[in-house]
Amino acid sequence: MMTQPVFVDTDISLGTPGAEIDDGAALIMLMHAPTLDVRGVGTVYGNVPVEQATHNARRLLSRLGHEETPVGRGVGLPLIEDPSWFAEWQSRYGPTPPWPGGDTLPTAVELLIETVRAAPGEVSVLALGPLTNLAIAARLAPDIVHSVREVVAMGGSFGHAAPTAEFNVRCDPEAAHIVFSAGWPLRLLGLEVTRQVLFSRHDFARLPDDDRALRLLKSQAPGWIDVVEAEGWEEGGCALHDAVAVAALLDETLITYVNASVNVELADPARRGITALKPLEEGQGNGTARVAVAIEADRCHDLILSCLERKCPS
Ligand code: BDR
Ligand code: CA
Repeated sequence: MMTQPVFVDTDISLGTPGAEIDDGAALIMLMHAPTLDVRGVGTVYGNVPVEQATHNARRLLSRLGHEETPVGRGVGLPLIEDPSWFAEWQSRYGPTPPWPGGDTLPTAVELLIETVRAAPGEVSVLALGPLTNLAIAARLAPDIVHSVREVVAMGGSFGHAAPTAEFNVRCDPEAAHIVFSAGWPLRLLGLEVTRQVLFSRHDFARLPDDDRALRLLKSQAPGWIDVVEAEGWEEGGCALHDAVAVAALLDETLITYVNASVNVELADPARRGITALKPLEEGQGNGTARVAVAIEADRCHDLILSCLERKCPS
């Protein structure tokens, strides 16, 4: 069977009590998908500090039986942005159990560059957190811009009359600007599509109990649903934003895209990180993206659950 090489960059917080679970669901799907071949995992700050994301990545890979997958420790702070607002979020969660070892890990930036260079034209880079590692990699090794197969990023928010900044972009707007205008083939999945696919307490409860990775997901999901409902973000369940990005890799037909340039607000302090589409004829800079505008939500929901249950399409 032909498999698709993937490098995943993630601020994974599954494993940190009380924190978000979508990067974890995405990693479980990636490892369960027979058509995908995860060649490396880079960590980044975001949902949790980078050290915690690194512990969480290694713990989940172990639970998935993939301890051999290379892990790179990523960047711990944005390029310019003041981290105090998301540090406050991070401080709400329980302590992350440390994963032993890890002192000799490569950096996520090195691992990303090496992974792409080792298979020119083949590797899809899946970005599930703030885009700092990708931005540094693109600046440090501009050749990878031309040798990735594509970059698929969960990030941004498009098409709202009163837009707010999406978390991954808001954490590091300058990095997002670099990544969105780098010139590599780019697909962007924003909140408008990811929020259409909700997972209920019942969905999580009926996942199998005989799988160590799923047990961790099942144990953390109800608490996260409590958070999103209390914040008024979602009702009756939670979105799994990053899992939708994996679904987009698995099935191109789930999502409809438009070609556009993407502007990231950098200057206005009140609007930093807000993203907007620019029609191509007005586009400036190098980059254009395929930006998701519609999703078959029920089909995506079923694909994500099947894949979590080890029934991904082959
Ligand atoms: C994105 O930010 C994080 O909260 C999630 O893991 C996801 O990557 C959604 O805005
Ligand atoms: Ca994430």
